[in-house]
Amino acid sequence: MGICYGLQEIALNHKGTVSQCDHREYGFASLEPTKQGPDGKVDALFDGLGDEFQVWMSHGDQLSTLPPSFHVIGKTDTAPFAAIAHDSKPLYGIQFHAEVTHSPLGKEIIGRFVLKICACQKNWTMEEFIGKEIKRIRDICGEKGRVIGAVSGGVDSTVAAKLMHDGLTVNVSIMVDNGVLRLNEAAQVNEMLRKDLGVNLTIVDASELFLSRLAGVEDPEQKRKIIGNTFINIFEEEATKIEKLAEEEEKKGAAAKGRVEWLLQGTLYPDVIESISFKGPSATIKTHHNVGGLLKDMKLKLIEPLRELFKDEVRALGRLLSIPAPLVQRHPFPGPGLAIRILGPVTREQVKILQLADKIFIDEIRNAGLYDQIAQAFAVLLPVRAVGVMGDKRTYEQVIALRAVESQDFMTADWYVFPPEVLRRVSSRITNEVAGINRVTYDISSKPPATVEWL
Ligand code: XMP
Repeated sequence: MGICYGLQEIALNHKGTVSQCDHREYGFASLEPTKQGPDGKVDALFDGLGDEFQVWMSHGDQLSTLPPSFHVIGKTDTAPFAAIAHDSKPLYGIQFHAEVTHSPLGKEIIGRFVLKICACQKNWTMEEFIGKEIKRIRDICGEKGRVIGAVSGGVDSTVAAKLMHDGLTVNVSIMVDNGVLRLNEAAQVNEMLRKDLGVNLTIVDASELFLSRLAGVEDPEQKRKIIGNTFINIFEEEATKIEKLAEEEEKKGAAAKGRVEWLLQGTLYPDVIESISFKGPSATIKTHHNVGGLLKDMKLKLIEPLRELFKDEVRALGRLLSIPAPLVQRHPFPGPGLAIRILGPVTREQVKILQLADKIFIDEIRNAGLYDQIAQAFAVLLPVRAVGVMGDKRTYEQVIALRAVESQDFMTADWYVFPPEVLRRVSSRITNEVAGINRVTYDISSKPPATVEWL
């Protein structure tokens, strides 16, 4: 079953044609299953799902002629070949994105294809996944394998660290303070991971180094690469320190400890997909720092146990591993941190402004009891200045953009509709309490065509 570009690829390979649409289609559409034959039955993929149902589209090209031996099984107002099937082979193509939550029946449709049409058995469970991953980590590292866990305080790296903790006898987790964390983040994460999870955590303050390397850089991809590379530099330095310490202990008679060979990261599937650059029309969206920012000659080898999972699956895994709910439900925070939320050059002063605005926004969301309804919320510091008036003085200061989205898997997202009084309170507090800001805006863009982050 080919989805979107996959449908077009299948069609082209079977002598159909694909052309640019008159109107690019991004967002919700209504799919009408096509009645087949004299008895008017719809295809098994859509049978019983209703005369019309909502799907999510994101395409600028579409099928313009049906390949021979295929028939239409569903259409929308603008896409006459929105879903097609081969007349005799189990080959399907759908233009809409069944894999995203904005297609409410998408899971059911994919499930029907996998279970009914392909006759696969449902035998993947999260419990089994845990067992297999722990065994895999043990097998590759050995009982005494020494692994550094890269921890950020987010759910992904926390779950990865807990898996490692459960799987190995010797390990250490490191959180690097890169100078672009949220206000008091390092201290809070230290508290949560040590106290609640018993993770052996070391915090390394490398903010000077990161900020000096980021000085004057505005390009988002460059920011990500600098941060990704610097993270690896720090982890390799820490690995060397740990080994030296072990050597000294050995000289004093302690048992030999293995070399620190591995770096554990909480990389997820969407980070991988959006960072891959294919030959052809599909472009790199963003090189997520922990995928695209790796050094070519890095000595540490990677373990990425969550590389095939989506965020909602990682949360389910976290619950099974008894990670406390507030940690599992934390909004994601990108590895490159506030550096990709400061749209101009990153300086300590700009970081401070954004940290204060971000804290006010998140505190007010929590006070309003909305934190768990929102997938991710944050403030963005814009490099533009706007005119304002304070008392009887003219001001000329920067603008904060607020972003809050609803999403299951972060591949698509919609902006969150706040009660107006919450936004009013946030705006009033930011303009009153954060020096250098005189204006606050709220971002009402969905993904696609926007992305969650601004950079
Ligand atoms: P986008 O902006 O790509 O964001 O729609 C989707 C999710 O990914 C997070 N994100 C990142 N996470 N390193 C990360 O660890 C990155 O470079 C990065 N860029 C985006 C983003 O916060 C959202 O949750």
